[in-house]
Amino acid sequence: MAASPKVQERIDALRELLHRHAHQYYVLDAPEIPDAEYDRLFRELQELEAAHPDLLAPDSPTQRVGGAVLEGFAKVRHKVPMLSIRTETDIEASGARNFDARVRRELGLGEGDPPVDYVAELKFDGLAINLRYEHGVLVQAATRGDGEVGEDVTQNIRGIGQIPLRLHASRQLPIPAVLEVRGEVFMRRDQFERLNELQREKIAKGAKGEKTFVNPRNAAAGAVRQLDPAIARQRPLSFYAYGWGEITPPEQGGPAFTTHFELLQALRIWGLPVSQEAKVAHGADDLVAFHQDVGGRRDKLPFDIDGVVYKVDSLALQKRLGFVTREPRWAVAHKFPAQEQLTTVESIDVYVGRTGKLTPVARLVPVFVGGVTVTNATLHNEDEVHRKDVRVGDTVIVRRAGDVIPEVVGVVPEKRHGAAAVFTMPRRCPVCGSEAVREEGEADYRCTGGLFCGAQRKQAILHFAQRRAMDIEGLGDKLVDQMVEAGVVKTLPDLYRLGLANLVALDRMGEKSAQNLLAGIEKSKQTTLPRFLYGLGIRHVGEATARDLARHFGGLDAILDASAEQLLEVPDVGPVVAESIHTFFAQPHNREVVEQLRACGVHWEEGEPVARAPKPLAGLTVVLTGTLPTLSRDEAKDLLEAAGAKVAGSVSKKTSYVVAGAEAGSKLEKARELGVAVLDEDGLRRLLAGGQG
Ligand code: IVH
Repeated sequence: MAASPKVQERIDALRELLHRHAHQYYVLDAPEIPDAEYDRLFRELQELEAAHPDLLAPDSPTQRVGGAVLEGFAKVRHKVPMLSIRTETDIEASGARNFDARVRRELGLGEGDPPVDYVAELKFDGLAINLRYEHGVLVQAATRGDGEVGEDVTQNIRGIGQIPLRLHASRQLPIPAVLEVRGEVFMRRDQFERLNELQREKIAKGAKGEKTFVNPRNAAAGAVRQLDPAIARQRPLSFYAYGWGEITPPEQGGPAFTTHFELLQALRIWGLPVSQEAKVAHGADDLVAFHQDVGGRRDKLPFDIDGVVYKVDSLALQKRLGFVTREPRWAVAHKFPAQEQLTTVESIDVYVGRTGKLTPVARLVPVFVGGVTVTNATLHNEDEVHRKDVRVGDTVIVRRAGDVIPEVVGVVPEKRHGAAAVFTMPRRCPVCGSEAVREEGEADYRCTGGLFCGAQRKQAILHFAQRRAMDIEGLGDKLVDQMVEAGVVKTLPDLYRLGLANLVALDRMGEKSAQNLLAGIEKSKQTTLPRFLYGLGIRHVGEATARDLARHFGGLDAILDASAEQLLEVPDVGPVVAESIHTFFAQPHNREVVEQLRACGVHWEEGEPVARAPKPLAGLTVVLTGTLPTLSRDEAKDLLEAAGAKVAGSVSKKTSYVVAGAEAGSKLEKARELGVAVLDEDGLRRLLAGGQG
């Protein structure tokens, strides 16, 4: 079917719209229409193109999707080689001064000459790509390869929403006939985390050949070089432009730029993403400031960078400086300390935290990473160790980003020689020997030693002494630290064995404050059972649960000996809490602490266990009908059920009573028929009070 001019017009309009909205969405992060509307326009274009294949164009937005699995990538010879860049080895700020000094020397500038202008940019940690646009249309995308010959990855690059398939026309700045844009393809950290999350799900479901990625750069490189474009498209990628390759020269109508920064702005106008972080810097001081500023914000950026890049801004000066071998003299990469390094696992130890959490930690052959020497890295929990399959002797990738605790990212499996045993979490706390338990649905093992465990001592004492528990006046954070470190308090009962001599021996402790503290400790002996129970710091036992326990059991001994089932009878105590209390008191250490505290004079008034609420009407079935003078239907029902009666909807021979109010109908008749006793509201109240109705 020959296309009418109308169809061509509509197709053009749709392409225009879709290009614009894709740019709003992917590049500007500011979508103007809902996704569903975008999808509708997209489908309309797809249908028109399907009906008129002669009107298909390579830069149509529909050409981002689809495509067959590639056999391998075609080779591409770069028209202008993709050079590498010299790396400044001095990672201190002085690296920037070295570069400026070299540039000035090469240019023959003296002390009296003005500062050289540079553009300072981020050094993105991804892979370099050359995008070739002819008459504004993306015709080819290639990897850097060896700098001379790369691979044609056009299909996969088309899937990156930020990369325009067609450049945006501009009246002031006509698009050159040939424009090669150079930049970096990378994966944002959040996208990387999400991708790995998905990969883990697939692996958990038993998918074959799936793996998680070690870092965003590997994930990005894998996605770009993925032969199946359908899979490549599921890997979210980003792009920033920072340079150019071949471009139509001014003599042939191309643009006449004089600075690198002008070029970056032109790329932005033509619809390419250019980082807002690129800045013009006047001389070395500005470069140093940029290096420091970006270095300090590195971990807050949404993507990984491995340094910054400085480029001489003036294209004329760039030309004068030229190249040494394959590197330009006008640019340098100033790296930050690497955040990932390889090292070896010497052992896997288990660390006990202040809350009793057991954390497996890899002891490493010391390695300089992220600006410090790292000797340990967290493995988080048992599942993580198994997921990453980290074993003693393995070569691992260690990552340290900013102030974050160093982490083992993954194992290098090729470097495993002979397999050490699979790691298992100890079933006893390595500090105190108490049982370590992992509760259902939780990732962590915890030491049940509580008060007894050295690792948890400070925390346990502070919790015990706090106002809402034993309320020991004057016993704060610093003092607890001091007492535990000096070894005068190892367990809670030790608090009640302190004498004046122990206290005045502590740093900055005068006799007066020591006496006050002793008085505070003495006063705390007179307490209540709920405060005491809460103070023990049993996991999941807050103040409310402590109160419920005390009320339900009346005294401590009944609680100490309660089974998990008996604990479940306490209002609001579920299986997790019951289990936690039971395990706590099953530890001989914890019982010992309780006994010693009592022996030291800690006491409270015990009560009677609350008798199980009596159910005087158990076994009775009552039917309500009509309107009672004061009680609503629901109130009457609640009262009856609380007393153990069953409230039924219809009258039968089994009905014990019918409670009838005004305008009672058929149910009252039925009761009379069957000879069932009938009560009014007063009768109901007498029944509830224990009378006979
Ligand atoms: S300019 C002739 N600018 O770092 C200069 N490169 O060897 C060519 N990179 O392969 C590179 N961010 O993959 C330049 N803002 C940036 C960059 C950057 C990252 C990468 C690029 C290149 C390597 C330098």
